[in-house]
Amino acid sequence: MKVAVPKEIVPGERRVALTPDAAAALVKGGLDVWIESHAGDGAFHYDAAYEKAGARLVASAPELNSQADVVLKVQKPGLDEVDQMREGMVLIAFLQALSSPELVQRLAARRITSFGMEQVPRISRAQKMDALSSQANIAGYKAVLIAAESLAKFFPMMMTAAGTVFAAKTLVIGAGVAGLQAIATARRLGAQVWGYDVRAAVKEQVQSLGAKFLEFDLGISDAEDKGGYAKALSAEASRKQQEMLAEKTKDFDVVITTALVPGRAAPRLVTKETVAGMRPGSVIVDLAAEAGGNCELTQADKIVEAHGVTIHGPTNLPATMPVHASQLYARNVSELLGSFVKDGALAISLDDEVVKGACITHGGEVIHDAVKATLAEKKA
Ligand code: NAI
Repeated sequence: MKVAVPKEIVPGERRVALTPDAAAALVKGGLDVWIESHAGDGAFHYDAAYEKAGARLVASAPELNSQADVVLKVQKPGLDEVDQMREGMVLIAFLQALSSPELVQRLAARRITSFGMEQVPRISRAQKMDALSSQANIAGYKAVLIAAESLAKFFPMMMTAAGTVFAAKTLVIGAGVAGLQAIATARRLGAQVWGYDVRAAVKEQVQSLGAKFLEFDLGISDAEDKGGYAKALSAEASRKQQEMLAEKTKDFDVVITTALVPGRAAPRLVTKETVAGMRPGSVIVDLAAEAGGNCELTQADKIVEAHGVTIHGPTNLPATMPVHASQLYARNVSELLGSFVKDGALAISLDDEVVKGACITHGGEVIHDAVKATLAEKKA
């Protein structure tokens, strides 16, 4: 069975779906691994390392896509890439299936069995396959480094002969995977850190990292759904939250926002009025930039200056740390692949909760419930 890895073509994407070590493990498991020449260059994994791992180098993506049984990618393919793919093959990538209707329909029409890494259920058994978490962890870490680089102040407290400087006050909004890593990283750099989330359940986790937890009464009893995710707030609760955050953010040098409700536009937490009320020289890093931003003034992949506040909206921080991002992603995709490969052959069982949860198209149909519902909504 041929498992193929084309070179990523999205501008700025330096990750690769398999590292040489991950390729070696698949080869050891009896699979043929094909790598497009130079696919690993961005992550400093050169062709010779893949050859040494037992992989075969292939000169072009069309050659690879048309002959593979399984294609592994980081970013979703373009429609032209899908058209190169052999009917009936398997594709695993961050498909962003909920927001890519044309791609999903094309995958179904080409009878490709596709898995969206973003749809892997966040349950214990699937933790090793959870690429959203492995990559969000990197984003949380890097967000703090960006803030520290941008802030015209120290992060740690310093007592010097020339006087004492106080630690930077940092607020992390949204204490999920990225947020908790941002809290931990800001603490390691010596900042005074506060965390905030609508889910009261994370208070303990925030405190266990040595940060304080901000609490507001939004007049809602339960902000969490059955899956442990935040629910979208009502207009009234959202307005209250904006007001309370506006009052609090005045005290902070750094605000890192990571709030997300799956499948929705980013909740708007920091309004332009809130930014205007912040101290000049403060820094916001908005990790939700791709989904519209938690801050009203965020622009994706731009640095905005407003009222003396610098607002960063990076959308692909994992690609800026391609070595570890690729290492972790390669493990995630290899685990997912391993869950439906038996004795060197495909054995896809849609009775498996994880396989079914991540599968977007199969047998010429869109089979993922939420993606199907989104497509139907778009048609209506
Ligand atoms: P997550 O689902 O683990 O955490 C999101 C947190 O936001 C949850 O704890 C949730 O309770 C909280 N939240 C939701 N609505 C809220 C509200 N109104 N107020 C306060 N908290 C609220 O998500 P994860 O994996 O940590 O990702 C966070 C964000 O970072 C996402 O928007 C994701 O797309 C983004 N991301 C950005 C990257 C980048 O390079 N910019 C890379 C990876 C992820």
